[in-house]
Amino acid sequence: MDKIVVEGGSRLTGRIPISGAKNAALPLLCAALLPAGPSTWKNVPQLADVRTMAKLLRMLGWEVEGTTTLNIAPPSGAKGKRKLKLEAPYDLVKTMRASVLVLGPLVARFGRARVSLPGGCAIGARPIDQHLKGLQAMGAKVTLEHGYVDVECKRLQGATIMLDMPTVTGCENLLMAAALAKGRTVIENAAREPEVEELALVLNKMGAKITGAGTANITIEGVDELQSIEHSIIPDRIEAGTFAVAAAMTKGDVLLEGARPEHLEAVTAKLRAAGVTVQAEAGGMRVKSDGELTAVDIVTQPHPGFPTDMQAQFMVMACVAKGQSVIKEMIFENRYMHVPELGRMGADIQISGRTAIVRGGMKLTGASVMATDLRASASLILAGLVASGKTEVLRVYHLDRGYEAIEKKLRGVGAKIKRAKDA
Ligand code: EPU
Repeated sequence: MDKIVVEGGSRLTGRIPISGAKNAALPLLCAALLPAGPSTWKNVPQLADVRTMAKLLRMLGWEVEGTTTLNIAPPSGAKGKRKLKLEAPYDLVKTMRASVLVLGPLVARFGRARVSLPGGCAIGARPIDQHLKGLQAMGAKVTLEHGYVDVECKRLQGATIMLDMPTVTGCENLLMAAALAKGRTVIENAAREPEVEELALVLNKMGAKITGAGTANITIEGVDELQSIEHSIIPDRIEAGTFAVAAAMTKGDVLLEGARPEHLEAVTAKLRAAGVTVQAEAGGMRVKSDGELTAVDIVTQPHPGFPTDMQAQFMVMACVAKGQSVIKEMIFENRYMHVPELGRMGADIQISGRTAIVRGGMKLTGASVMATDLRASASLILAGLVASGKTEVLRVYHLDRGYEAIEKKLRGVGAKIKRAKDA
């Protein structure tokens, strides 16, 4: 298996191109299940999760071809239709929870779907009860058996759905389902993440009638069919945020090419509070720092609050900033797996329930470390960039799920970082 080896101490300067957003690409691949014709997605990030989703679509019977431009075509002709399979098996769902995003489109278009229940994951229990509650409200019959959920409904009916919490993929599943339902659906307490807005935009390009995406109340007037389209995926705000922290911690000066400041307001506000200069520029966002960072407190919240997907990276920054930071993780109950690993590099972090107290001003030292989720692994790379000596980040497959060529991008701005074989 590969590992990433980082030699700390380099100042990062230059430009980093930001790839298409993983969490926008995954629902968009599933949205390609909705129209009768092919869809073309551009600016698709080259990630393990995207490859897993492409594999799932192929198992369902769709043809998926390409890399950064993906063409996705439905099964056609008698032979193709025989290949149609409305099931997401356990093997795939257990490696990637976002596989549940096929549920909404399959039920809406074909009247039924069978999806393995994801179960818990490294960062928390993460149930899908809200996805199912919404589909039930739209008239679907939901049966749980043998670890699978079977959902059936000849034609979904519009309904008012009040979500218990603004779940991102839950909202996306329901948007796709409601797009082809009969009548009006209203999703209350909807997720407001840019990726939800992106999906609504794409569905509208296909002919859906969705208003209010990006707010807590989304209205969908169901239509009978959707059209083939072509669309270029928005840049990844979490990738951009991760590199912004890298620049901040290394006294860097980096232009994040393509980054959209409007998707990153909570993150940039905290960077500025820590003493970092962040400027919108034509073509992206510049992040500049003199390396004098001050402690900031963070509470993760649904968008537009501070994103949970940036918590681990800010925690590393807090380790080297001046003063004490208090971090509260309010989205996932178990998202502190990076803490013991950072401790091995010399960090001083005390956890009590959902709160982490980080003593700043620490000198980190390189070590062999590993984490069991994507953003935690990214935070260990950030730690390695400022630690003295060599850091080895093991279990690189977590990083490859969500960061395209992270070592190449960091090397391009002066980091001493490489991928190597783990003996
Ligand atoms: N929740 C429920 N019931 C549900 C759905 C969610 O209790 O039916 C709870 C979850 O357990 C969690 C909270 O609601 O405590 C929010 O979870 P949400 O459903 O919003 O998360 P998600 O849709 O499974 C997406 C991203 C995650 C990101 C979260 C939060 C994708 C593919 N994944 O997950 O991304 O952390 O939203 O913003 O969009 C990552 O990229 O590293 C990642 C984990």
